[in-house]
Amino acid sequence: MTSTRAISGSSYMHWAKTQSVSRFNLATSGLENLSIHDLRVSLDDLELTYGGYGYEPLMQMLGARYGVDTSSIVTTAGTSFANHLALAALFQPGEEVLFEEPAYEPMLATARYLGADIKRYERRFEEGFRVLAQEISKQVSDRTRLIVVTNLHNPSGVLTHQETLKDIGEIAERVGARVLVNEVYLETLFAEMPPTSFHLGDHFVVTSSLTKAFGLSGLRSGRIFAEPELARRMWLLNDLFSATQVHSGERLSVVALRQIDEIAGRAKTLLDRNRELLNTFLDARQDLECVRPQFGTVMFPRLRSGETSDRLCSVLREKYETTVVPGSFFERPEHFRVGIAGETDVLEAGLERLGRALDEIKA
Ligand SMILES: Cc1ncc(COP(=O)(O)O)c(C=O)c1O
Repeated sequence: MTSTRAISGSSYMHWAKTQSVSRFNLATSGLENLSIHDLRVSLDDLELTYGGYGYEPLMQMLGARYGVDTSSIVTTAGTSFANHLALAALFQPGEEVLFEEPAYEPMLATARYLGADIKRYERRFEEGFRVLAQEISKQVSDRTRLIVVTNLHNPSGVLTHQETLKDIGEIAERVGARVLVNEVYLETLFAEMPPTSFHLGDHFVVTSSLTKAFGLSGLRSGRIFAEPELARRMWLLNDLFSATQVHSGERLSVVALRQIDEIAGRAKTLLDRNRELLNTFLDARQDLECVRPQFGTVMFPRLRSGETSDRLCSVLREKYETTVVPGSFFERPEHFRVGIAGETDVLEAGLERLGRALDEIKA
């Protein structure tokens, strides 16, 4: 078991905050941030202080949108804190948690920090990064308390279908474990989004936020869906962490949710256009191979040469003012992650530069 003292933060998050910004930034995975003006907020919409366990109008709106009773909703500071709070409530230090690999590092690091005995199940490039229930079956044990999935998968963007989630739920039930599904990218299916996997059973717990699909990261409008007794435990545990929510943020989340269909419409148009651009780029590159998901904001190509992407990423950054995420942050150094959620002209220029950098490292 990893000592919790070994975890001093998230190497990926530190890199994202200090190294990822560039003129042609293809390292982001969320829609371009909206400004407060885009939300058409009036001062009368805001207030500073509330209290209690969840701002009722926000809880009602989330409940109606996702078909979830408010007794099963916990609001949090982004998916990041939703993950932390959910993980903290779902196992005790030393208990076994089965995590996908490759994984979103901050979530994995949080589980380690909380003292999980981490086991892994692999999502293989050769299998299109799909979750294979038999792979989970092989790794699960009577000691497993939790199985973790991101849907869509970060870094590959691959969707896990309801049937597979049901199979995972059955495996979890057999050993008395729960399933934690991080659905922050599922929102990028927009009108095609399946019902939240929370509806698959009481042993499913879901985290998400308005960050990725809507450009609303700054609101920190996160949430957990969990069966009522568990949700109550999470609220009580949160009394040790943030105690109360930032109420102006809760109010702004209500304002944003009132406009969410309009915001979603613009986001979908942009992502459809940008996905086509990336697909055209990938069609033309013999030196890359890539699982090409139909949805989401990222793809995770790998170098056919088998080399790590480190040299590519540094040439790109230093010479071409362009950033992608090195695959080493996702335990797959021969890959890199490309985001398509930025402005189209930035993506176009960034891809052109990526092409030049790829030619350069081959020469
Ligand atoms: C899988 C996953 N979970 C959570 C987050 C963070 O989301 P939020 O901004 O809602 O905290 C990210 C952001 O990259 C992510 O990829």
